[in-house]
Amino acid sequence: MQQHPCPSLPGCPETAPAEACGIRLPSSLDDVPLLAERDVVLRRPQLRDAEALVAGSRDPVVREFMQAVVPHVDLGSAERWISDVAPRLWQEDRAACFTLARPDGTAIGSAELVDFRLDEGVAEASIWLLPEARRMRTATAGLRLVCRFGFEVLRLRRIDAYAAADNMAVQVVGAAIGFRRAGYRPALFRSSRTHRLHDAVYASLAPDELLRSDNG
Ligand SMILES: CC(C)(COP(=O)(O)OP(=O)(O)OC[C@H]1O[C@@H](n2cnc3c(N)ncnc32)[C@H](O)[C@@H]1OP(=O)(O)O)[C@@H](O)C(=O)NCCC(=O)NCCS
Repeated sequence: MQQHPCPSLPGCPETAPAEACGIRLPSSLDDVPLLAERDVVLRRPQLRDAEALVAGSRDPVVREFMQAVVPHVDLGSAERWISDVAPRLWQEDRAACFTLARPDGTAIGSAELVDFRLDEGVAEASIWLLPEARRMRTATAGLRLVCRFGFEVLRLRRIDAYAAADNMAVQVVGAAIGFRRAGYRPALFRSSRTHRLHDAVYASLAPDELLRSDNG
């Protein structure tokens, strides 16, 4: 079991398990609830998502604005990620990886929580959608769902997000669900496509700031 210091709770032993402070680790979950909003479902990746994963990993906008995206060479590579890599990341508490899907099961993108900082109860959220699922308010639902998972299931105290300063779409999506801009980090990350450095804006969201619907 992962141990962590907990400066925020008086009397909490410095090496208490994360659960002692109310935070649940991805590896501790027996079942992951299926969360849905309108026509967007957040669920764990399944082998049938491989084709969408290949397309997403090759999409130029995903590769421009996300770091360390390695294009899958074929369906087998995406299937191995789904069957081996994603479960291992969950098991090692390194990432909670999800597929965003339509109610009929069709995968349209991906969302994840990464970089868990248990001492603060914080994780970082990211999202991508296939081009055909963009510009439909799907991203707002997808980002809200992964944040709800972080707050309601893992009981996180804050979710952070970093976006390229020139990636307006994700900044608008983040602001629409309640993320507040908290800082600017010059040359923070390298594009997977062009390898140029992007300046980044940093935003954060606390549980009581999450806007539960597009109307607030
Ligand atoms: C980020 C992403 C998930 C957003 O999804 P999307 O469906 O494209 O988002 P939308 O089209 O709903 O755009 C969201 C809002 O931003 C606005 N927007 C988009 N591009 C914009 C721009 N260049 N300038 C200003 N506003 C912009 C849209 O008008 C929309 O506002 P509205 O809802 O009021 O109409 C999607 O673009 C994507 O997958 N991008 C590649 C991966 C990525 O960048 N991930 C984020 C990594 S941090």
